[in-house]
Amino acid sequence: MNKATAQIPGKLYLAGEYAILTADQPALIMAVDRYITATVSHSNSPDQGTIESDQHVWEYRRKNGLLDFDQLVESDQHFWRYAHAAIALVEQYVKESNKNVTDYHLQITSDLIDVDGQKLGFGSSGAVTLAIILSLLRLYDLDPKSSIILYKLAAIAQTKLNATGSFGDLAASSFGGIVYYKSLNRTWLEEELSKNYSLTDLLNKKWPGLEIESLSEDLPIRLYFGWTGTPASTDHLVGYLKEQLPHNQSDYQNFVTEASRTVQDLYQALALGDSARVIELIDLYDSLLRALAGDYGLDIITPKLDFLIGSAHSLNMGAKSSGAGGGDCGIAIDSIDDPIDKQIHLFNLWLEGNVKPLELHLAPRLYKI
Ligand code: PMV
Ligand code: MG
Repeated sequence: MNKATAQIPGKLYLAGEYAILTADQPALIMAVDRYITATVSHSNSPDQGTIESDQHVWEYRRKNGLLDFDQLVESDQHFWRYAHAAIALVEQYVKESNKNVTDYHLQITSDLIDVDGQKLGFGSSGAVTLAIILSLLRLYDLDPKSSIILYKLAAIAQTKLNATGSFGDLAASSFGGIVYYKSLNRTWLEEELSKNYSLTDLLNKKWPGLEIESLSEDLPIRLYFGWTGTPASTDHLVGYLKEQLPHNQSDYQNFVTEASRTVQDLYQALALGDSARVIELIDLYDSLLRALAGDYGLDIITPKLDFLIGSAHSLNMGAKSSGAGGGDCGIAIDSIDDPIDKQIHLFNLWLEGNVKPLELHLAPRLYKI
């Protein structure tokens, strides 16, 4: 192919955040229709090409067959680490597929940010990893046409970076829609990667622990998204929680048990079309997060998020923070049977308290099945 594009949606947690960091726990995560887009075309200069994003540009050179990342003098290590890992992995895959690695111009654009350039907290590193991987695979005519293979490639790239999250963002962004997700066994993957492995074999294996299931897009609820205007650091909050776990395991264990049950029930209620129960369970998850925050002194529910949730409650909607909290977004949930004009009331309330309603919808599935 001469030119290829990949559009990868951002994600937001419906429920299961924090508990998903523990093995065998489920989460429900939504892909939302804001995207990272990667466009790639062949470069005519051998061993040279460009990588560009809204904030970065790099005219790369290839040395000994690999992009010479040592050459790169850039302050934003974060972006380049992910880009490097994604590119290196695709090139390994291309070689294993008996194709020649070529050079290219790769351009990445994002609408996971607000007009003034602030991150909205939709999981951009996961979407960037996936967008680079998929656009390059398409350039080499190697589109796997499989969300699970894409997820696995991105999870391998990020594991090589020692990324610590649950990879829930990768699951939602590689599938689209809403996914029921259980994370892979990290120790297993690290052991596999420490062997002299074949990527193709590893991708074809069943990965212990991993479960990703797409939910029906026919939902009994309406979803509303509000942005607090404050970007939050997931790493900071999760790091702080992890520091404290050796001193107090039991509160976290109780949280995980309750969270797991709540997510399972929510999965069922969604499947049964029971909107009243969905709303009840969203509120239950909110109270579990508040208890976790109290037990470990975590600033999950900021005053803005509390206001966002309270406003939804005043209209008999369910509501909670989404993801790590501490800022970013919250969600509100209404029954599909309730009057649609409640949305206007909710948005007006939010605006009065400086919460920005976001024009967001579930992103369609990446591959139709
Ligand atoms: O704030 P977000 O949307 O990045 O979600 C973080 C979810 C956590 O469970 C707290 C962390 C993780 O990696 O799953
Ligand atoms: Mg967040």
